This record gives sequence, C-alpha cells and structure tokens, in this order.
Amino acid sequence: MNKMNFNLKQYLKEKQELVNLHLKMILQQYEQKRELVLAMSHSLMAGGKRLRPILSMASAEACGKNFELALPVSCAIEMIHTYSLIHDDLPAMDNDDLRRGLPTCHKKFSEATAILAGDALLTHAFNVMSQPEQVFKNFPNSQTRIKLISRISQAAGIQGMVEGQMLDMQPYQPKENDSLINHLKKIHALKTGKMITVSVEAGALSVGADPEMINKLVAYADKIGLAFQVVDDILNIEGDPKIMGKAAGSDVLNDKMTFPAIIGLDESKKFAKNLVDNALDSISLFDETAVPLRAIANYIINRDH
Ligand code: IPE
Ligand code: IPE
Ligand code: MG
Ligand code: MG
Repeated sequence: MNKMNFNLKQYLKEKQELVNLHLKMILQQYEQKRELVLAMSHSLMAGGKRLRPILSMASAEACGKNFELALPVSCAIEMIHTYSLIHDDLPAMDNDDLRRGLPTCHKKFSEATAILAGDALLTHAFNVMSQPEQVFKNFPNSQTRIKLISRISQAAGIQGMVEGQMLDMQPYQPKENDSLINHLKKIHALKTGKMITVSVEAGALSVGADPEMINKLVAYADKIGLAFQVVDDILNIEGDPKIMGKAAGSDVLNDKMTFPAIIGLDESKKFAKNLVDNALDSISLFDETAVPLRAIANYIINRDH
C-alpha cells in the first residue's frame, strides 16, 4: 500500500460494505417485524458514512495487523454512534426531521419508539463486544474485550459524549480562565471527539498494539475528532442538505454555539486544516500501513457530507 496506488473511495466503500453486512447480521438475530427492531434498523441501516468503524479498522491496519479483529468493536461503536444520533434528533434536543437521508427515527415511528430504539442500540453494542462469537469469525481475547468495553463506556458516557451533549444543551456561563472558544472546544471534544478517539484506540487495542503506538494514534485521533466537528459546523452553513441527508442552516436558526459563529467561516476552515496537519505529524513515524489513516484525515476536511 503506497500513496500512488491507494484509492480512498474504494477503501471507504469496501469497509462500509463489511460494516453494513455485519450490522445486518447483528439485527437479523431478532424478529424483523418487531417495532423495536424496525426502528433500530431504520436508523442503523440508513447508510451513514461509517467513519468511526472505518477509523478503527484503519488504525488496526496502521499497527500492521489483521483489521478483521477490529470489526466487532467497530460495529459496536457504530451502534452507539447511531443511538447518539437518534437521541440528538429528538424534539427535546435538536428537533430534526431528516437524518441519513431519511425521516428521523421519531418522525418515522414515535418519540417513545425512538428513545427505546436508541436505548436498545446502546445496550446491544455492549452485548456485541462481550459476545462477538455470535456474529464474528475473528475477535480479540476476553481480556482485551473487557479493556475495550471499559474504554468505550468511558468515551460514550459521563465524561465523554453524553457530557458533551449535556454541555451543548446548556447556555454558556462565563467562568474565569475559560474563554468562549475554549468552552466550545471542550464541548466538541466531548460530544464528538471522544467517540472518534476511542474508535482509533479500539482498533489498535483489538490487535494488541503496544502502548507507544497507541499513544501516537490517540494524539492523531484527538485532532481529527475536533476537526470533524468543526467541519460539521461549517457544513451546517455551507453544505447541501440533499448531499448531507440532514438539515443545513439549523445551527444559526437555533442560535447554537459553533466555530463559525464564534471565529467566522474562514478562521474555522484554517483551524480545521491546522488540526489535520498536526494529526498527520502525530503519525509521521508510521510507515505505509498508515496511508489509509492519512487519507482519512484529509478527507475529514474536504468532505461534503
Ligand atoms: C454526525 O456524525 C454527528 C456528529 C458527531 C458530527 P457523522 O457525520 O459521522 O454521521 P453519519 O454517521 O455519517 O450519519
Ligand atoms: C451531534 O452533534 C453529536 C452527537 C450526536 C453526539 P450535532 O447535533 O452538531 O450533529 P448533527 O449536525 O445533528 O449531525
Ligand atoms: Mg446536537
Ligand atoms: Mg444535531
């Protein structure tokens, strides 16, 4: 694998198909006609970018190992991410009608069903990590799986994504030694960054990478995670809802705290580009096994959805 013959589009497509196939197998264990399973499937199979699972597998590859070992945790992370989107779209939160090109879960079903579908995706993600043999051929040993469960529950929970969502819902209270922009960086790092970082970390942990390698990968991930949410803010202004499969313009309408709202569009773009350059520096010592991770970092700031 080298820069010359690496085709990111093809790489993303292959990995997306692998994730989709296994997510489908996970849901197929249950009676398809049940309202709960229909609602879970509606959101999970709607066709997201699968960025977090792809990062996990690319991270395993960067460690020079069989990426299929990272597939169970990749699917579990995508289930947690999808639950976070279902709840994020609820009327009590962002009140959005469109997600992944389809009506949001609460629009298609009901608010109660959407809440429960999210709950079930979150809960079942931990079942997938603890009992991967139900669906997967390759998976890490039980000690590694406990470590993965521990790291992912931290990233998704009280000091991770959920806390980020909480802060995102609260009005900014100026505090000494905390500027508005630092407060926003904290929200973005928590609500989006933590799950992206743990995706990269989980891929490396799944293949038993050494701590030094993991530290470098985590440094890379922290930066692309923040960049990813800054670009999400930018796309909410400049993006095409038809391409994104979700609303644009809603942040201004809802008076949300975002990077463009605080530092402007041009500065936000420069900031995201800088983060990606720094992310690439963090993995500069990796050889060509890290070509996909490098390409994904660049994709994050050049994407249109
Ligand atoms: C959207 O995530 C929510 C954020 C954390 C910014 P993605 O942009 O990865 O959404 P999908 O998974 O492709 O739908
Ligand atoms: C979503 O953030 C973050 C999570 C779901 C954890 P946003 O609310 O900014 O993302 P979109 O724009 O709805 O996807
Ligand atoms: Mg939100
Ligand atoms: Mg939202």
